[in-house]
Amino acid sequence: MRLTDSDEYFFRRSVSQLLAEKDVRSMGEYIQHAQVSTLEHCISVAYVSLWFSEKLHWRVDRRSLVRGALLHDFFLYDWHTDDSGRKGLHGFTHPRAALENAEARFQLTDREKNIIVRHMWPLTPVPPKCREAFLVSSADKYCSLIETLAKHTVYPYKG
Ligand SMILES: [Fe+2]
Ligand SMILES: [Fe+2]
Repeated sequence: MRLTDSDEYFFRRSVSQLLAEKDVRSMGEYIQHAQVSTLEHCISVAYVSLWFSEKLHWRVDRRSLVRGALLHDFFLYDWHTDDSGRKGLHGFTHPRAALENAEARFQLTDREKNIIVRHMWPLTPVPPKCREAFLVSSADKYCSLIETLAKHTVYPYKG
């Protein structure tokens, strides 16, 4: 799984723009699966989403695709140890928490909002309404599986 050089350049530039925000970088302090941080997970999901879109030759809003993927788990707590009562419901509630955090810090497109809030489909029953959100929902499941079973990040990003 490897992007073309021009796609890789676009991807890295998009990631570094969002990483300028310290709260986005702070996702690196939380574990998502095994030893993989939420930030590493989100970067991998963004990479795989872009790769899927290229392989499928789908016409997508690439900027929204990558930004929405990077922010899809921007919920900013450790879901393994959280004791605020959200733990059992995390799978259902964290897309809304991520959307609220993202909207408080960024101007989001409708596609970016849909990517974030619908990425847990079909656990949350309302399906994605754009292809970008469908791609991220699929890439999220792929990356979560690899991270949980192989215990390493799918795309090792070096800044
Ligand atoms: Fe998630
Ligand atoms: Fe995720």
